[in-house]
Amino acid sequence: MRFICFLICFFPLWVTAGNFPDDWGKTGHRTTAEVASYYLTPVARERINSLLQGKSLALVSNFADDIKSDERYRALDPWHYVNFPLDKGYKDQSPSASGDIAQAIGKCIRVLKDPASDREEKEFHLKLLIHFIGDLHQPLHIGRAEDKGGNDIQVRWFSRGTNLHRVWDTEMIESFDMSFTELSQNLPVVTPEEVIEIAKGDYMDWMQDTRKITSEVYNSARVGEKLGYRYMYDHFDTVRWQLLKGGIRLAALLNEIFNEP
Ligand code: ADE
Ligand code: ZN
Ligand code: ZN
Repeated sequence: MRFICFLICFFPLWVTAGNFPDDWGKTGHRTTAEVASYYLTPVARERINSLLQGKSLALVSNFADDIKSDERYRALDPWHYVNFPLDKGYKDQSPSASGDIAQAIGKCIRVLKDPASDREEKEFHLKLLIHFIGDLHQPLHIGRAEDKGGNDIQVRWFSRGTNLHRVWDTEMIESFDMSFTELSQNLPVVTPEEVIEIAKGDYMDWMQDTRKITSEVYNSARVGEKLGYRYMYDHFDTVRWQLLKGGIRLAALLNEIFNEP
């Protein structure tokens, strides 16, 4: 009888915990946000600091994931990603009515630029934007609908069962075992000219740039494959580049938004 009660009480928890979709793990989002903070202009830094009431970009970078367990924010779940066929472009289909990462970023920018938005609205959408620019750089967040961006592709990470999406969100970054401050200082080294090159374009171009890697990521593992050291060796540099690009581009976007008079 006790066992039955235990099952009834905890089975739903166990099921949801196993399927809980997250994004670049906490360390990934904090790293991208930390990098962005290095590249802010003094004016943007000051205005952002005031909106966030002194909290760092890294601290608020996981807010959009933290509110997923609050049902008032259920409608924001599809805002973290977009799925379309690998041989198609984003604009080849009509935008999803429930929203996607591109629509979400567009909305955040509009709210932040609108003089009519109130302080709270701006703070909320700034936190979301810091998170979504991170997600925009995870190749499986610009994925394929049929496998939910790799969430349905089961693989092993060392001895544990996981899926390809989680390998890219979390497993590689956690295995590297650096704090976000350490990782943000151990990304690829770039010249000022390269920084300018990376920051060029808008978020639709950046989504397209991430998409260039998505097929490669899908081809990197077979269902059920055991991934580990070799996989890290082959793919962790790509993760480090994506975290860096996300940070530089987030700063470029925030500088554009917050330097306006
Ligand atoms: N759920 C469905 N598709 C997804 C994706 N590409 N990324 C994260 N979660 C998803
Ligand atoms: Zn996310
Ligand atoms: Zn994810």
